[in-house]
Amino acid sequence: MTISPQSAPTLPTGPELMPGVTATPLALLLLGRQSDPASERGVDCPGELPASSDPTLVERARAAKAALGDRVFVLGHHYQRDEVIEFADVTGDSFRLAQQAAARPEAEFIVFAGVHFMAESADILSGDHQKVLLPDLAAGCSMADMASIEQVERCWEDLQAAGVADTTVPVSYMNSSAAIKGFTGRHGGTICTSSNAKRALQWALSSGTKVLFLPDQHLGRNTAVLELGLSLEDCVLYDPHKPGGGLTPEQLQAATVVLWKGHCSVHGRFTAQSVADVRERVPGVTVLVHPEVRHEVVLAADLVGSTEYIIRALDAAPAGSSWAIGTELNLVRRLAKAHPDKTVVFLDKTVCFCSTMNRIDLPHLVWTLESLVQGRVVNQISVEPETARHAKAALEQMLALP
Ligand code: 13P
Ligand code: SF4
Repeated sequence: MTISPQSAPTLPTGPELMPGVTATPLALLLLGRQSDPASERGVDCPGELPASSDPTLVERARAAKAALGDRVFVLGHHYQRDEVIEFADVTGDSFRLAQQAAARPEAEFIVFAGVHFMAESADILSGDHQKVLLPDLAAGCSMADMASIEQVERCWEDLQAAGVADTTVPVSYMNSSAAIKGFTGRHGGTICTSSNAKRALQWALSSGTKVLFLPDQHLGRNTAVLELGLSLEDCVLYDPHKPGGGLTPEQLQAATVVLWKGHCSVHGRFTAQSVADVRERVPGVTVLVHPEVRHEVVLAADLVGSTEYIIRALDAAPAGSSWAIGTELNLVRRLAKAHPDKTVVFLDKTVCFCSTMNRIDLPHLVWTLESLVQGRVVNQISVEPETARHAKAALEQMLALP
């Protein structure tokens, strides 16, 4: 990833940033007044971010969007805050947003209200004349961070040493860095999302005898076992923090699916006990979960599917029905609001937002749009061309899945 050059922000000099808050490097980062170019967590917002208490934010966002007209297209993932979704030209799951990014060549700027890997994919799929902006560079994904390109290259060497790399096809979840998507393209694999993981695995197993699925072990396991009818024993877990992944060459040779030891910290909170508890709390409830939850949670639930699937299921549900949803809270709340004739509850008892999705808020959106109006492109996401070329092959393979 490269970040577009930006003018250095003016840092407050005094020891107090605001009453009671000292200007430590971390405080400055979190307030968007300092950057750390070596890290995705670096946040650099030249000029002042509007205060979240500014009562004119909605008006300012509307005015900036109107001033930019067709030059800007805002994509919004289903996990975004309501205040941001309001300004999205299209909302969707990561698959639909990737399709939309590829289908808008007329927009000069694509503002991605989502997380970093989604914006990278939009940059890869959009034209060279287009610029993709992520309103807050700290909007990463803890799951994507669980697989670095160096670790994945080492894993491939382990597969080579076991004599199985030639017949292994990598299937990488959209939630991965551009470098890993590039690796996937170089090795003849495909990207998948939660809405097409079954087709991706079927395609991969018809082109090779083994799949390396990364970085989400749960999506890989749930799809392999519950959708393809493989057994749990057909899957092995590769731990990038252990020599050889913690597996023997014989284990790698015997497996049909090599799962990467990564997971989503948000969906990882749901347990089979959460399902049992909600069934007691809400009589007759249908439990619907995202496939990033653990295998035993899917087994305890009634239905499983991507964010688009969840939305469609609620749209089709009869009035008076009750639903417990195991996915990110912004989406569950929006569903509850959109279906006042149904009971819609969050699967867990404790609040569970995706903190990185939530980094994109109205002040960052206003700052991004107003900067564009002033002729400044901020927080541009730009994938290096050689990586982008291979990553595009893997993304296009996904878009072409039967
Ligand atoms: P979807 O592909 O269902 O939108 O999910 C993306 C994601 O990050 C889920 O945590
Ligand atoms: Fe990543 Fe999980 Fe957030 Fe999705 S919900 S963006 S997988 S951390």
